[in-house]
Amino acid sequence: MNLPDSLSIKNGHLFCGSADCVGLAEKFGTPLYVTNENHIVENFKRYEAVLKKYTDKVQVLYAAKANENPVLIQTLAREGAGADVFSLGEMKAALDGGMPPEKLLFNGSSKTPEDLRSAIEAGIKISVDSVDELRQIDEITKEMKKTVKIGFRVNPEINVPTHPKIATGIKNSKFGIPAEMIIDSYREALAMEYVIPVGMHCHIGSQILEVEPFAIACGVIMNVAAEITKLGVKLEFVDFGGGLGIPYRRGKNADNAPTPEDYAAAVMPVFVEGCRKAGISPAFWVEPGRWMVGESTILLTKVNSVKKVHKTFVNVDAGFNILIRPAMYDSYHEVIVANKADAKDAGVYTVTGPICETGDILAEDRELPEVAAGDVIAVLDAGAYGYSMSSQYNSRPRCAEVLVNGDKVELMRRAETYEDLTRAVVYPSWHRK
Ligand code: LLP
Repeated sequence: MNLPDSLSIKNGHLFCGSADCVGLAEKFGTPLYVTNENHIVENFKRYEAVLKKYTDKVQVLYAAKANENPVLIQTLAREGAGADVFSLGEMKAALDGGMPPEKLLFNGSSKTPEDLRSAIEAGIKISVDSVDELRQIDEITKEMKKTVKIGFRVNPEINVPTHPKIATGIKNSKFGIPAEMIIDSYREALAMEYVIPVGMHCHIGSQILEVEPFAIACGVIMNVAAEITKLGVKLEFVDFGGGLGIPYRRGKNADNAPTPEDYAAAVMPVFVEGCRKAGISPAFWVEPGRWMVGESTILLTKVNSVKKVHKTFVNVDAGFNILIRPAMYDSYHEVIVANKADAKDAGVYTVTGPICETGDILAEDRELPEVAAGDVIAVLDAGAYGYSMSSQYNSRPRCAEVLVNGDKVELMRRAETYEDLTRAVVYPSWHRK
């Protein structure tokens, strides 16, 4: 199997950086997310450097939703990252992590008045998703007598090869304003007293394993950029969103995932040429989430029992409460028996979680070495949309997260306790003794 850089196999055990995963499971308990920090730093540097080969003005905004642990946000902030934030929680995490407000973009198709007010107060640019939202921003800025820089989210209306639930730039998507309606939106914004339109935003989808759709979207967006420039908009940034996929399939029929170098080679010439034609020099913004953190992390889960019936089930202690991607998007994640990492495959197993639903399957029909209770299974590529989408379903506390950096290994989030599960519960008066 083609392992990500952050993993290796030594003496039959799976290692994340310097840490023996079997030892980690014993020391910290399972389920357990294990993240290699060095991998994330290297990823950020590589992504930024390759874009900077084409233009000086580049800002990488980490998509905080992929993994919003404030420790990792701090890691990326120290490298110079900004963030795409989609909620006040993500905004707070980004600011607390040390990201300056000017490097943040507040995104979202359904913002509350409180979201808008807080973003304006904090001096954060807003990606506006509708004319209704624009008008609300106008009212709020007039009340606050405070300016705000905005961009509109443009829907480039292109089909992308990914799961339909995460294709966002298609014609019937809820996100953004269609390109043909966008000129009027900018015209309206230009006339507002405290609203300064300086940007444009798009995001075509996630886990995209081809670079052409990004280049096509860039072309559409740069045409719009030229038109709004004629209208009088002075573009400071154009944000192309995230979406670059990672190779979840690493064995037979491995995914052929594009690299940031491939992405840049396809997109940047279109951007540079678009800028030249329009006579503008906005910064190139991009919002990778999955690519930045996906491969950095594994999920360790312990085998409770093995059941041989019409097929062989491996019942583990992590289910879709901990990693929902397989159940939600039929996503494929490689699994490795961490304590038998170089043993020969001995059978076909289906790895299932402890949740009371048939769909609680982490990995279906996989060839693995002989599996037994007590073994530790590693689910690969769990750094993006793993912990951040986990829940307490079936009254199961969320698990801990550990950070590995060189030879250092420490918790970056403790496991929740049973007390945490009911911390927010309030008994109505007639239920109190
Ligand atoms: N920017 C915007 C506006 C987004 O909506 C997203 C992801 C990103 C950037 C980052 O996209 P990425 O580089 O990570 O592909 N939960 C799903 C993925 C949902 C993506 C939502 N938006 C999954 O587990 O596959």
